[in-house]
Amino acid sequence: MMIALNKPLTPDLTKLTAYLTQVNESGWYTNLGPLHEQLTKRLEAYLGVENLLLVSNGTLAIQVACKTLNINSAITTPFSFVATTSSLLWQGIDTAFSDIDRRSYNLCPKALDKTFEQDNKYDGIVATHVYGNPCDVESLAKVADKHNKKIVYDAAHAFDVKVSNKSVLNFGDASTLSFHATKVFHTVEGGAIIFKHKADFEKAKQLINFGLQTDGSLGEPGINAKLNEYQCAVGLTLLDDIENVIKHRASLFNTYIGGLKDVVELPQWHPQASLNGAYMPIYIESVQKQQAVMKALVKNNIQCRRYFSPSLDVAYSNQKSFGCENSHKIAGGVICLPLHAYMSNDDVKKIVQIIIKEAI
Ligand SMILES: Cc1ncc(COP(=O)(O)O)c(C=O)c1O
Repeated sequence: MMIALNKPLTPDLTKLTAYLTQVNESGWYTNLGPLHEQLTKRLEAYLGVENLLLVSNGTLAIQVACKTLNINSAITTPFSFVATTSSLLWQGIDTAFSDIDRRSYNLCPKALDKTFEQDNKYDGIVATHVYGNPCDVESLAKVADKHNKKIVYDAAHAFDVKVSNKSVLNFGDASTLSFHATKVFHTVEGGAIIFKHKADFEKAKQLINFGLQTDGSLGEPGINAKLNEYQCAVGLTLLDDIENVIKHRASLFNTYIGGLKDVVELPQWHPQASLNGAYMPIYIESVQKQQAVMKALVKNNIQCRRYFSPSLDVAYSNQKSFGCENSHKIAGGVICLPLHAYMSNDDVKKIVQIIIKEAI
């Protein structure tokens, strides 16, 4: 049997149908309806955050966050999913790259400080908690304060991750989530922005509804980025079991770590972070060994993926780069292994054995 890289969570149809029936009976399909309200409140309580605004996907979440915070130019990480950069470019944001930390694969605070010393014109920082591993949020906050910059965290991978028991979504001026079907928690397509300040939340709430103000008058031009009631129904259904899902994913992640820590390089996790088991990245420097591992996995019907590659400063070479050697190195040797809620610890052990055979 094939072991897939990822498998979306399947909502229980009985529960889902009960929610959808409510929608059909009320005739309220979108525009901040009752299920939207329920999902917002339940997510705020579950995640331990305030000022959570549901939106239609994680890409628009980044764009609306930047628009709300008046970020027109930004320094970002070269090591992330393409949407972290493409969303900024689509928004017309002057985007430049600063390198990642060699060990954590997240935006490097020291390199970022040097970047701002060289060129201080940028309004903001857009950093990804890559693979659900929190950035060095304390050091990044110091750099942002020193240079007077706003921070948006792309937390698409970091659903329910905590740093010292506090949600990672509480750091920065805004954090964005993706609820795409492949994510730890999903609404098929969807996302959210968590703002530090209530005033930003209120502004964004109008911006995602065409810029219509509460009294119906027109404010700053907005966009349509609302999450509809059918999708909220999927979220409410899946949320019931999410704690168990995350526990299971974290246990699979730990089994991988136990088996692979002396075999391949693994990203260095933030020491105070909780795990959500979103992804299982490994790094193999030798091209020959990388290829041998990937070939052996494919032969055994196990999916894997070069993720994230290429480094985004290479993909978008017209944008300014302040030097991204670490990102080039990691993008050249990183492989993501299968990790999803429907896998067992035995599946993980089987994968570990194949890697041990090829990588040592
Ligand atoms: C790091 C990161 N940022 C942004 C996105 C975009 O999210 P969405 O697909 O919901 O637009 C994704 C995933 O899709 C992602 O992995």
